[in-house]
Amino acid sequence: MLRRIAPDLPVSIGDCDRERVPATVSYDLELRDVRKVYGNGTIAVERFDLRVERGEFISFVGPSGCGKTTTLRMIAGFEAITAGEVLIRGQRINELPAERRPTSTIFQNFALFPHMSVQANIEYGLAVKGLAPAERRAKARGMIEKLELADVAARRPDGLSGGQRQRVALARSLVVEPEILLLDEPLGALDANLRKSIQNELKLLQRNLGITFVFVTHAQSEALVLSDRVVVMNRGTIEQLSTPYELYRRPKTPFVARFIGRNALIGGRMIGLSDGLCAVDTPHGALRGRGNGEDLGPGDAAIVVVPSEAIDIHPAGRSGGMPDLGRDANGLSGQVISSDVVGHTLFLVVRLGDGAEVRVESHVARYAVDLVAVGCDVALSWAAEESTIIRQD
Ligand SMILES: Nc1ncnc2c1ncn2[C@@H]1O[C@H](COP(=O)(O)OP(=O)(O)OP(=O)(O)O)[C@@H](O)[C@H]1O
Ligand SMILES: [Mg+2]
Repeated sequence: MLRRIAPDLPVSIGDCDRERVPATVSYDLELRDVRKVYGNGTIAVERFDLRVERGEFISFVGPSGCGKTTTLRMIAGFEAITAGEVLIRGQRINELPAERRPTSTIFQNFALFPHMSVQANIEYGLAVKGLAPAERRAKARGMIEKLELADVAARRPDGLSGGQRQRVALARSLVVEPEILLLDEPLGALDANLRKSIQNELKLLQRNLGITFVFVTHAQSEALVLSDRVVVMNRGTIEQLSTPYELYRRPKTPFVARFIGRNALIGGRMIGLSDGLCAVDTPHGALRGRGNGEDLGPGDAAIVVVPSEAIDIHPAGRSGGMPDLGRDANGLSGQVISSDVVGHTLFLVVRLGDGAEVRVESHVARYAVDLVAVGCDVALSWAAEESTIIRQD
């Protein structure tokens, strides 16, 4: 049973009288049209709407300065909200001070107390909340066991590895039994291997505890692996909020198509629908793909988005043109201008007739070396269904 941290917030739906829970209380966390303007006039966050279910793992991704930390800090209560509302389990918390919110935050540098032992670091939040020494020692001990920190409990943070420090930061946040854990690039300082193993630990822990996680990261791959849903932010607004699969398969905006995965983007004008797919007139002929729900009419500027891994490479047709690819395929022709192998992956760049470049990624064993060498004329094809047609902004 989770302890009640903010006296006016029920700890779980099961914890309060079901009859008295208003019908609207269905989200653990809700942001309604949230806006943040800093004192210097910077608009850091705008029109931010988000509803998070209990136990969901939500990530915020986006380029530096897009407003991820600011949004997290408004949820945590470290930053005032200029306009809009933040609700936790149906209750507005805009004015609730940080220490009374049922949230706990892990910062990028972990912010551990250097002069305190691991045990004391973990107990600290419980002391602030007024727990008696025996009780806080017992709770901290439990968390130390859970995160396998017993061997280092007496050490200070500077005597720990990066991964151990990360676990202490987690333990310190989880021991206060938050409803919502807010994590601001907590894995940023770790090397790639450690990062991977802690990602797995984090996901397991989150599943086991059933706590809602809001996770900020620069690394899109991390967000795609860990999250139930991902918020892609750009210049303070949400570009797309989707499951990782949807985000990857069906980007909604050119920004998302460039930011997530490795896509080729080919511009053109919408022709219309054919066989349930959108057809777009491009400098390389007509290309087809699945619409993404946007209302695109004939003549509208559109972009064909193709995931690099969906592309097949063929020898160019006899006169250097397209071989016959079948009616369900899109095709382009061009010349290989760079060909690199990293591990088992082949990275190709193909220049099209108008100078545009398309990146292709494939397993190295898939093609004959003399097909994919620099200077080769090739045809590229992919199933029309694999590409997404989006509006050009
Ligand atoms: N205290 C502040 N005063 C004024 N402007 C600020 C303040 N903090 C952040 N900003 C500005 O608000 C915008 C959003 O910043 P924020 O820190 O939320 O970005 P971020 O997405 O977390 O970036 P990063 O990935 O680099 O951490 C930026 O333009 C930033 O310069
Ligand atoms: Mg940040």
